[in-house]
Amino acid sequence: MSHDLFEAAKAAMSKAYAPYSKFPVGAALRTEDGRVFAGANVEIASYPEGWCAETTALGHYIMGGGGKIVEIAVLAERMAKCSPCGGCRQRLAEFCRPETKLYLCDNAGVAETVTMGEMLPYGFRGDILK
Ligand code: THU
Repeated sequence: MSHDLFEAAKAAMSKAYAPYSKFPVGAALRTEDGRVFAGANVEIASYPEGWCAETTALGHYIMGGGGKIVEIAVLAERMAKCSPCGGCRQRLAEFCRPETKLYLCDNAGVAETVTMGEMLPYGFRGDILK
């Protein structure tokens, strides 16, 4: 991974709105044509209404034209190798292939590289719905 994806996740994390959990998260993804989209988690006083950093990044990605996602970086200020929650794995998988790389980061950079296929084996595929 080029360091810019990590830097984008880190910059996004600095914008997190996480006054309740105090657990800022940043995520960044890259499309195959090189566009980078990032996002942070957003918390709401009615707790279930908040959402994750990965989901914010996906919103930017869709509004920026979508496309094939080739790599994703996730970073949390207070946890090394924070991995996407179950809901975000399903959301990310919608736009990824099983071989899409997911970089679990710590504050210095990539701590572990996994694939989306490893993160969401036997995930629900919506192909039949199309
Ligand atoms: N969170 C994320 O943004 N991404 C993850 O992959 C895991 C959890 C956020 C949601 C909530 O704002 C905070 O972390 C604590 O759960």
